[in-house]
Amino acid sequence: MNLREKILDLKQKKNAIILAHYYQTADIQDIADFLGDSLQLAQVAENVDADIIVFAGVHFMAETAKLLNPHKKVLIPDLDAGCSLSDSCPPDLFKQFTESLPDHKVISYINCSAEIKALSDVICTSSNAMSIVNSFPEDQPLIFAPDRNLGAYINKQTGRNMVLWNGACMVHEIFSIEKLLNLKVEFPEAKIIAHPECEAELLEYADFIGSTTQLLKYTQQDSAEKFIVVTETGILHQMMLASPHKIFIPAPPNNSCACNDCPHMKKNTLEKIYQALLLESPELILSVDILTKAIVPIKKMLDISRANAFV
Ligand code: 13P
Ligand code: SF4
Repeated sequence: MNLREKILDLKQKKNAIILAHYYQTADIQDIADFLGDSLQLAQVAENVDADIIVFAGVHFMAETAKLLNPHKKVLIPDLDAGCSLSDSCPPDLFKQFTESLPDHKVISYINCSAEIKALSDVICTSSNAMSIVNSFPEDQPLIFAPDRNLGAYINKQTGRNMVLWNGACMVHEIFSIEKLLNLKVEFPEAKIIAHPECEAELLEYADFIGSTTQLLKYTQQDSAEKFIVVTETGILHQMMLASPHKIFIPAPPNNSCACNDCPHMKKNTLEKIYQALLLESPELILSVDILTKAIVPIKKMLDISRANAFV
């Protein structure tokens, strides 16, 4: 049996399920039971009936799956698959920050640790951030953490003045505006589509801004034939599968690389997924205290999303 067949065989024998984010490599996307953006994966994780969940994504995503399935085994192929955005928000400093603004409610982007989630009133993703923010009365002071770029984008869209934690994603912040504009000169008919984790200065040039799933849907529904894609390159696999006749050009970062991969997401491999299934390790473990506290704002997000029919 090849590696792919061995994974599928083990998965069946152990009643396991593989959830994968769009930023995984194409071979992992192709064997996943469910593939999606952060919101979709949380929604799927809420209703899993397998005994084992293998989460092909990064640490905070596997934590979310564990919070939603405290009695199931959640495996992460590489325990070191972290996230620069999550790391930019240490829980002790964040606790002091929220305590200094006691009249503020706390909205945290799902790209944060379970400890930060436990300090939050509600979680959001890039798909539902607007409706989560709008679920609070206009005069309610808000903290938004940890992504200053997504927070600034939502402030601009909603006219709010949320206090922003000063965190950022290393992948979405290093796109080169100069190289992006050069690409636009080369392909003037191409539409620029960008993820809201990018800086405001870059978003000014985007024809469309949205979460990973919203970007994918846009490329399917819009009449343009060419797109310059300003987000992690993993999503191009699904864009090309969904619209094989269209051209997708990854936007380059401000270094010598031609495209922009998340080094954390790309730590996962088929071999590591196989080993994780075989050994049932590394397993994601959370304390009872964190399991009890951090699930509350996640459930709140899922309830609000259900009410707004986010799928
Ligand atoms: P979404 O999945 O919400 O588009 O977020 C992208 C991301 O950076 C995941 O780490
Ligand atoms: Fe974190 Fe950015 Fe990688 Fe997403 S793309 S996992 S936000 S570092």
